[in-house]
Amino acid sequence: MEMPFLTFSTSSLKNTLTLTLAAPPSSLLRALQFPQRKGIRPVSAAMSTVTPVEEASKSPPLQVAKRLEKFQTTIFTQMSSLALKYGAINLGQGFPNFDGPEFVKEAAIKAIREGKNQYARGYGIPNLNSAIADRFKKDTGISVNPEKEVTVTSGCTEAIAATMLGLVNPGDEVIVFAPFYDIYEPTALMAGAKIKAINLRPPDFSVPIEELKSAFSTQTRAVLINTPHNPTGKMFTREELDAIASLCIENDSLVFTDEVYDKLALEEDHISMASLPGMYERTITMNSLGKTFSLTGWKIGWAVAPPHLTWGVRQAHSFLTFATSTPMQWAAAEALRAPDSYYEELKRDYKAKKAILVNGLREVGFTVYPSQGTFFVVVDHTPFGFESDIEFCQHLIEHVGVVAIPASVFYLDPEEGKKLVRFTFCKDEDTLRKAVERMKEKLRR
Ligand SMILES: Cc1ncc(COP(=O)(O)O)c(C=O)c1O
Repeated sequence: MEMPFLTFSTSSLKNTLTLTLAAPPSSLLRALQFPQRKGIRPVSAAMSTVTPVEEASKSPPLQVAKRLEKFQTTIFTQMSSLALKYGAINLGQGFPNFDGPEFVKEAAIKAIREGKNQYARGYGIPNLNSAIADRFKKDTGISVNPEKEVTVTSGCTEAIAATMLGLVNPGDEVIVFAPFYDIYEPTALMAGAKIKAINLRPPDFSVPIEELKSAFSTQTRAVLINTPHNPTGKMFTREELDAIASLCIENDSLVFTDEVYDKLALEEDHISMASLPGMYERTITMNSLGKTFSLTGWKIGWAVAPPHLTWGVRQAHSFLTFATSTPMQWAAAEALRAPDSYYEELKRDYKAKKAILVNGLREVGFTVYPSQGTFFVVVDHTPFGFESDIEFCQHLIEHVGVVAIPASVFYLDPEEGKKLVRFTFCKDEDTLRKAVERMKEKLRR
């Protein structure tokens, strides 16, 4: 689940071994951990205690099917391991360092105690399907049938995989907007499809409509959007959504929309693609509990789509996980029925956190790009004189004690993201302040 940090497959293992002999261990390890873009890139185990080199010398060659050969351990896993190794403050991976609400945790405990512990119905317990349908109606104005149009999945991750595997054929194309969340590409590849990336560029990361138009072909099965957008915090405007909708209707393509940050629309109102005229019929809306309820480890997600598209999603879901955790579904149903005040407070808290980080990053000397939603912000690191985002992040971890995510991993063409780095503010205020202090103290222009 990582963007293409170079490769370590059965066929390339030989190269890795050759490299082992040619390079002194310390420089090799360094190369594995922090690649030059055009040179050696790290391999999956680079951040663990057993290096691939050691592993390779005592284990059989690592094996992976060709369709996944180009992917390695996710950058998020790598960076989180490094945070531990260097005692760095982790503003990399998007998981809160605070807990989810008591009423949701209590609901899970109650469900477990009440014996709601056996397999759930494959597409979701009726109570949760209804809660999702109710929330969808409230958010989009569209009434959906919880039994026929809602599928509960293991996180939005599985909703994305089931959508790709259930609705996309080998040879199809899926258009994505880069930078993009890392699992879009491997899930499309697992379905035998190809992705075409349209680059969104700073400062506003707006959609280049003419480029998008020319990316459509007879093979375009779907456009995948993510609003609010990870990593930039961009929210697709009504005009952009209208333009994408018209092109999808014209070309008879679907929209896969990942809206896991819909409740973290901090500066503007969130617009769901499904709510645009004529779009519900061709849209799969994917979401999950994790971000909104600070329970990223629960992995309860869902896909909402008209029955003819839900069929494909459910077919894939049946053979991926079949059903997801029963007690957590009971608790998720409780969570989704939270009063509006819960969401208002959530936004208030995140706005305060965002102000600490954004103001701090500006004072440190970064160019900070506007983020309207999510808990991420993207900055230009070039004032500090590093060649690439990877080098900058390496320095930041080792010498400053802060973890950020190099943005090139979110692009098909890493060059596009070389100047950019993503920080998250889903951490308590003290942690954010400490990270800013470290950067002020130790980062020199
Ligand atoms: C844009 C986006 N989509 C999906 C996910 C995964 O969601 P889940 O944890 O519910 O699988 C993430 C998590 O970081 C994300 O940022």
